[in-house]
Formats: sequence, C-alpha cells, structure tokens
Amino acid sequence: MKVLGADIGFGYTKATDGKQHQIFKSIVGEANESQFGESLLPGQPLFPRHLIINGQSVFVGELAETQSRGRGFTLDQTQFLTQYKKTLALAALAPFVDSGDPIRLVAGLPISYFRKHKDALTTLLQNRHPVTVVKPGSGEREEKVIYVERVRVIPQPFGSMFNLMLNDVGKPASQRFVSEKIGIIDIGFRTADYTISDKTRYSERGSQSSDSGISVAYTAIANALLEKSGINVELYRLYDGISKGSIKIKGKRYDLNAISQAAFGQLASRIAQEVNRLWADDWDIDAIVITGGGGAALAPFLTPLLEGEVLPVPADQDARLNNVMGYWKYGMNLWGA
Ligand SMILES: Nc1ncnc2c1ncn2[C@@H]1O[C@H](COP(=O)(O)OP(=O)(O)OP(=O)(O)O)[C@@H](O)[C@H]1O
Ligand SMILES: [Mg+2]
Repeated sequence: MKVLGADIGFGYTKATDGKQHQIFKSIVGEANESQFGESLLPGQPLFPRHLIINGQSVFVGELAETQSRGRGFTLDQTQFLTQYKKTLALAALAPFVDSGDPIRLVAGLPISYFRKHKDALTTLLQNRHPVTVVKPGSGEREEKVIYVERVRVIPQPFGSMFNLMLNDVGKPASQRFVSEKIGIIDIGFRTADYTISDKTRYSERGSQSSDSGISVAYTAIANALLEKSGINVELYRLYDGISKGSIKIKGKRYDLNAISQAAFGQLASRIAQEVNRLWADDWDIDAIVITGGGGAALAPFLTPLLEGEVLPVPADQDARLNNVMGYWKYGMNLWGA
C-alpha cells in the first residue's frame, strides 16, 4: 500500500508520493501518432505525457498544448470534473504506481464545490483503472492497472495547512499550526480559496471560494496585448512572458512590466477586500498564510493590504506544490505505518 497526493488544479496538475513529484499543465488533447515519434529534440519530460485510457489515446500537459489539434482546457468546475479530472489524475499518478498495487489517495476540491463534488470525485477515482502508458523517448508501451483503493477529499487550502503542520511521516511538527487560529489564502489559476483552521478545525464561517484566481490578472494582460498586437494569447501561454517582463508576438517584443504590475495590484486589492470582509469577526486570527502558485506571485502586492500577521512565503519552493505536499502528509497521518 502506497500513499499518494494529487492536486488537480485548473492551471496545473500535481502529484507526489513523498519522494518524487510531477507537475504539468491541466490540458488534455488528442494524441497524434507523429511519424517522428516524440523525440526530435533532447530534453524529454521525465514522466509520460501520452496515455491510452478506455481506448482513447491522449496527450496531457505541455505535450497536449504544443502537439494536439483538439485540445481541452476549461475554467468551468462541473465540466472540469466530468471531462478532464480522471484523465489528469491518472496521468499524474501513473509514474508513482506499481501495476495492481493498492494506493490510497488524498485529493482536494475548492471550498465552494467541496460538498457538491466530494462524493462524485471519490467515485470517479476510487477504482481499478487499466491504462496504457507510452514512455517518453522510446515510445515503449506499458500496460498498468492503477488501483486506487481509497480516496480522501479535503478542502484545497487545508493541503497547505497540513504541509506546514505535519512532517514527512505525517506527525505534527509545528505546534503553532496545531494550537493557533490560522487563516489560509490559496490563490490558484482560476480560484481563490479562503479558509480558517482554528486549532486544526475547519471554520465554515471563515471559509469561502471566489473567482479571484490569477487568471483575472492574466485576462487583463491578455486584453491589453490583444489591443496592441491583434493576437489573442491563450491565458495558459502567458506565464513565461509575465515572469520575464516581455513577450514576443510575430517577431515583435511587447513590454509587460507596467501592465502586469497594474493587473496584479488590482487583483490583490480585490482579494484583500474579500478576505478582510470575510474575516471581519475573526479578529483573533494568529497568522495568515498566502499559498498557491498565484499566491506567490501576488504576495508582495497582497501582504501590505491584509489585516494581520502574514507569514512569509518561502521563496525557494514552488508554491504550486504546497497543497499536494500537504495532501500526501495528511495521507501519511491517516494511513502511514
Ligand atoms: N514555475 C511556474 N510555472 C508556471 N506558473 C507558475 C510558476 N510558479 C508560479 N506560477 C503561478 O502559479 C499559477 C498556478 O498556480 P496553482 O498551480 O496553484 O493553480 P491551480 O491549483 O492549478 O489553480 P486552481 O487552484 O484555481 O484550480 C500560475 O498561473 C502562475 O501564475
Ligand atoms: Mg489550486
């Protein structure tokens, strides 16, 4: 029995077995069996991005983004669950699974869909899933049964909380997170989730989802670019340009610094308003944690606007992984030896 964590976000799918992890864009596409295979260039992905599930040959992640003609990407919660989550989850888990061996899985859902989709997500994943994995580079095929014996679904931001609270064997390591009242702000690609852990207990009153994901800022940046360049850049293709400060479109370079600063600043003040209103009665919060990939990007703008002690975001870690690492630690806490 192995414990795994999987965080299937609107932007990125992440999975870990505690030793290794992988992360890829949450995009699914039709596989095209190119005559050159997938190995024209060096720098193969470490983990498979081509799978055959229920007779359907699919690409996921960057391979789907660059190679698939029919591509699926959505910001709709129900469509995401019914059309993409299983494929993304199986692709995420496949490298960490020995065929037929039972695994126990912790996954998450946004606060607002937690009650509504919890059972559906469990049913979707808790099963024996036969898949064919096409290995990167060689194209060699391997039949695998991904046997998900048990699933536990938790509210997404609790992943980040457990990551701070528990150690690598799933035991409490930081007393602070066990005994204090902690507010968590998880800013993802589409969603921003706010929650309070009061001595590890979930506070319903202090918890809420909103649509203030980083994609709000990305949309503003894409609109400005459309006006200047005439090209409608897909949101999931903007990250590199935004972090570099400029983007090249049809040979011409466009500066993104000013527009990014403005868009991030605006989104941060919208989030601060939502949070400060939501937690108005929770003035006894001990500390606030900003997490998620979008959280890392917004933290410099958001921190000065929040009412309370904000714990610094560690700069050396990829904040997109905070939830999934915590899911795995929670799994170890539940089922670990
Ligand atoms: N190395 C990186 N590559 C790409 N994006 C990054 C990176 N580091 C931080 N980010 C930011 O992280 C964001 C995605 O964050 P995250 O993975 O937490 O979202 P998600 O969980 O997929 O979305 P949601 O929670 O809404 O479902 C990106 O949109 C980008 O702003
Ligand atoms: Mg997320």
